[in-house]
Amino acid sequence: MDRYLVFGHPVRHSKSPFIHTLFARQTQQELEYGLAEPAVDEFAQALRTFFDQGGKGCNVTVPFKEQAFTLVDRLSPRAKRAGAVNTIKLTDDGVLLGDNTDGAGLVADLKSHGVTLADSRILLLGAGGAARGALAPLLAELPSELVVTNRTHAKAQQLAAEFHDLGPVTAQTYEQLAGPFDLVINSTSASLQGALPPLAPALIHTDIAIYDMMYGASDTAFISWAKQHGARQTMDGLGMLVEQAAEAFTVWRGIRPGTKQVLRELKRNLGVI
Ligand code: ATR
Repeated sequence: MDRYLVFGHPVRHSKSPFIHTLFARQTQQELEYGLAEPAVDEFAQALRTFFDQGGKGCNVTVPFKEQAFTLVDRLSPRAKRAGAVNTIKLTDDGVLLGDNTDGAGLVADLKSHGVTLADSRILLLGAGGAARGALAPLLAELPSELVVTNRTHAKAQQLAAEFHDLGPVTAQTYEQLAGPFDLVINSTSASLQGALPPLAPALIHTDIAIYDMMYGASDTAFISWAKQHGARQTMDGLGMLVEQAAEAFTVWRGIRPGTKQVLRELKRNLGVI
């Protein structure tokens, strides 16, 4: 049976095996999908061993995505832009192809929520790996403006400069931000510590769409805060998780699974509904 897995550390609570097992059942693909949690300095060896032993493909999550970028034989254009690899496929001619499906997953989830990206003003909070992965796919949707803001301003400036050739992206400090924005995407890890990015509440209005790439059994700190200040449309990163997985599954198997039912089952599994 074709073998896939996700590498991460920690990875025990990963939902990827659950999601891919449902995708495989739905599309009648024979495969198994497991977990691997190598020590942080043993990832390269573990990856080699997995493919030497017949593995067909894998996902890569925190903290290995940047290292995976350096270990594959070939990179997709979107992985090259993201500077990180979350999906690896062993091609028929024995090449390890590194891809990145995170940004495509974000855009697919935004669209499935009916969010319009073309001609919109988008504010992206954070300038780490998650922001970097999102920039090219967001700019490909032709927003009128994409502003990146970050606690450490130099990192936002660096990203804006790097992606400037793809569209109207600029860097501003949190203090410089002037609304109205149509969509705010939180790519910071602040919610992990229950903290909030220092965004002025005046930027939140009733017609704004709020997206937090984080998710949990209850609202993230950022989503609670945005609701408190009047946002009516809020979305967390659970849909992005399922959509990036669907994109990876498509890369591996050449068949695109449906995501709606799987997302519903995942929510039930997490106790969200
Ligand atoms: P990831 O790969 O998930 O993006 P990362 O590369 O460590 O993780 O980046 C985390 C991002 O969250 C950074 O933009 C970070 O801001 P700094 O560059 O200033 O460190 C941002 N971040 C983390 N905690 C934050 C907080 N409490 N408030 C605002 N931004 C925060």
